[in-house]
Amino acid sequence: QADTPAAKPGAGDKISRVGVIGAGQMGAGIAEVCARAHVDVLVFEQTRELAAAGRARILRSLDRGVSSGKITEREREQAAWRLRFTSDLGDFADRQLVVEAVVEEEKVKTEVFRELDQIVTDPKAVLASNTSSIPIMKLGMATKNSSRVVGMHFFNPVPVLPLVELVTTLMTSSDVSERAEAFARDVLGKQVVRSADRSGFVVNALLVPYLLSAIRMVESGFATVEDIDKAIVLGLAHPMGPLALSDLVGLDTIKAIADSMYEEFKEPLYSPPPLLLRMVEAGRLGKKAGHGFYQYPASGRPSAK
Ligand code: 3HC
Repeated sequence: QADTPAAKPGAGDKISRVGVIGAGQMGAGIAEVCARAHVDVLVFEQTRELAAAGRARILRSLDRGVSSGKITEREREQAAWRLRFTSDLGDFADRQLVVEAVVEEEKVKTEVFRELDQIVTDPKAVLASNTSSIPIMKLGMATKNSSRVVGMHFFNPVPVLPLVELVTTLMTSSDVSERAEAFARDVLGKQVVRSADRSGFVVNALLVPYLLSAIRMVESGFATVEDIDKAIVLGLAHPMGPLALSDLVGLDTIKAIADSMYEEFKEPLYSPPPLLLRMVEAGRLGKKAGHGFYQYPASGRPSAK
């Protein structure tokens, strides 16, 4: 069982009880950074098995934090104590901030917001989505009080990348956006940029056409996977090339983001290329599946497909 810690004094208008929905790559990362920031975190997963996998993912990442000297053994233990898991969304009634990080599907996310709206009755509570591309307004309109709905978009790996995109809709109250921003900045120590409520927000609006272009390059035989990645790492000093990054994000997620952006803007540059569709159909979803543009043995470095 978790302890009941208080948030750092004066931080984020006293948000000290956070809920995270989903313990996949992003949800686990968000829960981890909250727990490391002394916040009481309750994580929802649908089954005990998924919850156990989520907890294991977070513990592995905390271990990494210890081995790279970012946190002490004691901080790792304390962060682990602050994390509780549940399969009952009803347990979220006392949360002051909930961050939804379920699969990138509008229907699933709107259903989560519809339920959350009924469970979290405090009108000051913030209901946030980590969606990569779905307009926040669509999620807000699934609730009766869309003034408390915002986008808080984190980046993978969440413990490493310092950015949060804050997305407000035509309906979000300034009090809610300020509380969300203060929490991300003062409690989590993230840097915040604000974006209009347009599919893809700032980062994915620029990133996704680039990733899709790299996939089209592979598809047309323009260059190999390895050479495209090498060119970008060595020629542009990016930490990783676009195909390795696609594997890290997950090809299913990239397809879902591209679909949302295409629906919003109707621009061919956002339409997912056939190679991406085929790889998703084949289950070659990237790092999490052990196989994408590269293969990922259970341990060790990625190798060419
Ligand atoms: N948890 C905790 N720490 C981690 C970590 C994790 N999951 N992954 C890496 N780290 C830490 C390591 O411990 C290491 O710390 P140290 O330098 O103090 O020892 C540091 O990060 C670097 O890690 P590595 O040495 O293992 O590996 P690399 O130097 O190759 O870095 C990387 C790996 C951090 C993933 C780096 O390649 C990178 O930043 N890549 C770009 C990632 C990116 O662009 N992400 C955004 C994707 S878009 C997105 O998320 C939005 C969504 O909507 C699609």
